[in-house]
Amino acid sequence: MIPVARPFVGQEEADAAARVIFSGMLASGQEVIHFEKEFADFCGTPHAVATSNGTTALHMAMAALGIGPGDEVIVPSFTFIASATSVSMCGASPVLADIEEKTYCIDPEKVLELISPQTKAIIGVHLFGQPCDIRALSDICTDHALHFIEDCAQAHGAQYKGRAVGSYGTCGCFSFYPTKNMTCGEGGMVTSTNPEFINRIRLLINHGQKEKYLHTELGYNFRLTDIAAAIGRVQLRKLPEMNQSRQENADFFTKKIVRRGIIPPFVRQDSTHVYHQYAIRVTDQADITRDELVSDLNRKGIGAAIHYPIPIHKQPVYEGKIQPCGCPVSEKISREILSLPVYPGLTLEQRDSITQAVNGCE
Ligand SMILES: Cc1ncc(COP(=O)(O)O)c(C=O)c1O
Repeated sequence: MIPVARPFVGQEEADAAARVIFSGMLASGQEVIHFEKEFADFCGTPHAVATSNGTTALHMAMAALGIGPGDEVIVPSFTFIASATSVSMCGASPVLADIEEKTYCIDPEKVLELISPQTKAIIGVHLFGQPCDIRALSDICTDHALHFIEDCAQAHGAQYKGRAVGSYGTCGCFSFYPTKNMTCGEGGMVTSTNPEFINRIRLLINHGQKEKYLHTELGYNFRLTDIAAAIGRVQLRKLPEMNQSRQENADFFTKKIVRRGIIPPFVRQDSTHVYHQYAIRVTDQADITRDELVSDLNRKGIGAAIHYPIPIHKQPVYEGKIQPCGCPVSEKISREILSLPVYPGLTLEQRDSITQAVNGCE
């Protein structure tokens, strides 16, 4: 079976983790400090703070901005659930905006319609590895004095107008979950140009501890471990090569998948796409339904996944708890979308068999 996702980790990562284990210093320490610096440099931001995962990165970023009960944050209705639940964890309300049909990213025009006196921030998710419309969203945030939070969980190393994602907004929030473009098992990072904001997150993720055993406010334990950071540092060095491999696989699929009614991913002109997912659409012009194609691929030993079958506004957790939203594009895309394996390490033979299976060749 070709799995739909597989982390690209090996001996180097194992050696890095072993080094930390045998050093006897397992908690957050020097490896985390180096990882933060190297990741900030990679993104072209002066500061970064590591967290336990991408959800805590988002949650702590908003908490550090003072977002809380009574506040609203505009979030795309088509994304992984954590983009919205992190808002709820702060006690604020996610307000869901529909997406662009071509990029699957939040639609700035829909965002404009949703701004209220309670709005404090917009979360732009760079979905599947493609930057959202950063220019339009930044302009809206400037005009309305809002924070622009980049959810970069799926887009490490993607560029917009020649600059890395995570360097545009008030902050960029990253995840290092195993299926992501780079991993450290579980982990997260917040990037920013603002040192006070980053230091505030440092306080919040470490029990609100200002000095040793002096706790000035209610904090959390959302730190990254040195074992994870050591793995992350190796992965960061490999990231350009891993992203290039994803792009080559994606270009191959886009050239070779020719089945009628199947739409390949669209790439914005001013962006690089790093293909966290290679997500095709199986439209009603195709001779097969999306769910039939998933079964067909699975029967042929190819993993395929649906990211995401249920838009955020239809999730039971939010039933009756958020402003009703009409998000027809999100609903349509969630019926049509299908992710194919695109990770580095796919062999040429595997790429061929994926292409043939999607094209319906027996
Ligand atoms: C868009 C998006 N935001 C946030 C997250 C949360 O990251 P994590 O799983 O590391 O908590 C994810 C990861 O799955 C994601 O895909």
